[in-house]
Amino acid sequence: MKQVGILTGGGDCPGLNAVIRAVTRRSLDRGSGVVGIREGWRGLVDGRFLPLGPREISGILPRGGTILGTTRTNPFRLEGGVERVLATMEDAGLDALVAIGGEDTLGVAARLHTEHDFPVVGVPKTIDNDLAATDYTFGFDTAVSVATEAIDRLHTTAESHNRVMVVEVMGRHTGWIAVVSGIAGGADVILVPEHPVTVEAACAEIRRRHARGKDFSIVVVSEGYELQAEGTEARFVEQGGLDAFGHVRLGGVGHVLAAEIERLTGYETRVTVLGHVQRGGTPTARDRVLATRFGLRAADLVHEGHFGRMAALHGDTIVDVSLAEATAELKTVPLELYEVARAFFG
Ligand code: F6P
Repeated sequence: MKQVGILTGGGDCPGLNAVIRAVTRRSLDRGSGVVGIREGWRGLVDGRFLPLGPREISGILPRGGTILGTTRTNPFRLEGGVERVLATMEDAGLDALVAIGGEDTLGVAARLHTEHDFPVVGVPKTIDNDLAATDYTFGFDTAVSVATEAIDRLHTTAESHNRVMVVEVMGRHTGWIAVVSGIAGGADVILVPEHPVTVEAACAEIRRRHARGKDFSIVVVSEGYELQAEGTEARFVEQGGLDAFGHVRLGGVGHVLAAEIERLTGYETRVTVLGHVQRGGTPTARDRVLATRFGLRAADLVHEGHFGRMAALHGDTIVDVSLAEATAELKTVPLELYEVARAFFG
């Protein structure tokens, strides 16, 4: 009988519990035991567990967050961290690990596998949808739904007051949430890191709308958009401080952008920062299904002893890819998709 560990690392997102349920269910059906590891890699450093059985996974499919808890712990940055992870696996009698995470958590998994032959299988999660080697990550669809609903709501109030509404969405260094929710919500300008547009060009689009008799505008900006004004260097707006993976805390570009739009156009402008609302709450049906399919595949990979692999979506088929390949680079918004959004600017 195999003992399978599961952990969730990095930022939480809707659908994590659906994966935990699927991995547990399939592993139990295959005669394995399942142990949840608390709070990401931190739980393997400290040896903190939650045994998982039918009772623990009952009713968790629609629940947001993660019943295991999560942290942004990086064992490679902790003194003796990797040795402790390896020792905990052995002491707890774990034969395999399913790591559910984004580029950071899976980057640790890939390194552990390459450098220590660690028996790990990955499941891709992140609202940012920026993981290479999978067409979609779960959590993204829910975040896009939240952002789209917000844009719809902001439309009616923008129209009543003849205002420009700036909506700041998450996404870190890619603009997936901004572009997809912006297209779905009919945004008039969308600013993302991958396809930079200057503030002046954004204002020209807004003026063009006004000239056509539309006295309000919706501007969607991704938190990772580097503020670009003509004749100046592009600059990130950040909150300062680095996490264990060396990422800056983003957030706040919406406020700076709104002030610039108001100054350059003279139109009254307001800001909404959606923040963690995009990560909370119940997953959409699509995310629940994707998370469930990923979870089943991950459990099967473990059972077959295919380590160093990650469940992935190609088209509408679940496949598996190498963890190293999946974490080698970020998946950015292609120009073709941005052009779809741009067709409706101004
Ligand atoms: O990676 C997911 C994400 O929500 C990013 O979009 C965002 O920049 C970051 O996490 C926020 O992290 P935290 O929850 O640590 O503030």
